[in-house]
Amino acid sequence: MSSILEVNDVHKRIRGKEIVQGLQFSVEPGEVFGFLGPNGAGKTTTIRMMVGLSPITSGDILIDGHSIQKSYAKAIKQVGAIVENPEMYNHLSAEKNLIHFARMNGKVSHGRIDELLDLVKLGHVKKKKVRTFSLGMKQRLGIAQALLHRPKLLILDEPTNGLDPEGIRMVRAYLRRLAEEEGLAVIVSSHLLSEMELMCDRFAIIQDGQLINIEDQRFSQGEGRLLPYRVDVGPERTEAAVQIIKEAYPDLKIEEADQRLTVYIEKEKVPALLRYLMETGFDLYEAKEDRQTLEDRFLQATSKEDSS
Ligand SMILES: Nc1ncnc2c1ncn2[C@@H]1O[C@H](COP(=O)(O)OP(=O)(O)OP(=O)(O)O)[C@@H](O)[C@H]1O
Ligand SMILES: [Mg+2]
Repeated sequence: MSSILEVNDVHKRIRGKEIVQGLQFSVEPGEVFGFLGPNGAGKTTTIRMMVGLSPITSGDILIDGHSIQKSYAKAIKQVGAIVENPEMYNHLSAEKNLIHFARMNGKVSHGRIDELLDLVKLGHVKKKKVRTFSLGMKQRLGIAQALLHRPKLLILDEPTNGLDPEGIRMVRAYLRRLAEEEGLAVIVSSHLLSEMELMCDRFAIIQDGQLINIEDQRFSQGEGRLLPYRVDVGPERTEAAVQIIKEAYPDLKIEEADQRLTVYIEKEKVPALLRYLMETGFDLYEAKEDRQTLEDRFLQATSKEDSS
């Protein structure tokens, strides 16, 4: 399998303190991969090692098959990253900034610059000086800059920090587009669960420099999976509804608690079940997927860690 990034048993020790403890995971082309952990978990430290800004104590990181330690030039060629705040020249326009960075990169066409400015929705203000830009606009220009040399891997440390909800939504939308349309692999870090859930295909939960779990959201949203549906037929009718469902669906797992009815069923089969209930004389007040929140899963994952 050709992973774009492989993190192999990576450790980081600073003054005797183990800040990253044996991280192990890989990222495939075309996926948005998240790094989720509380403040001080080791996200930035790991990202700095990925881009060669900080030495790896032991283990290795391969980018497109090249070790960032042993073949730095080949490895870094495939990386675009914003680790600290993107450096921009405030007295230059957005376009001039990109032209400047393109020169440092060697070959970048003018077409590529326009394409990127459009991608991050700055095409209409490309002649304006960066000094007049909002934080979100600077952030987006930083991403355009990181993509100039057509890397296969884009790494962004807390890309939505300081952005308003609309800015966050935009970042999310074009990171997804880049991954889907250009096959770019994207790594983003955040301490916000809800954000990772919306933005990522998969994300690693890290705590105290250790990998606690990798959540694969593609799987949990996949077909054929039994999802909990809460069906409200009114408090007096719950028990009768359980009986009637069991008659038609003897294999279905049904839970009944506090006058609430939950069935575990494939999404595609829900309309038929609801129709059946109505046809057998039940009133439906509400029927919705009872999705276990990411917070629940996060707490489960971290408490598993505590008890082991
Ligand atoms: N140069 C350093 N010297 C000593 N300790 C460090 C150094 N850099 C990071 N640390 C420690 O390593 C741990 C991980 O820090 P890191 O910045 O990687 O966390 P983070 O997950 O990015 O957190 P945040 O969400 O706050 O950005 C912290 O306890 C931090 O104090
Ligand atoms: Mg950080």
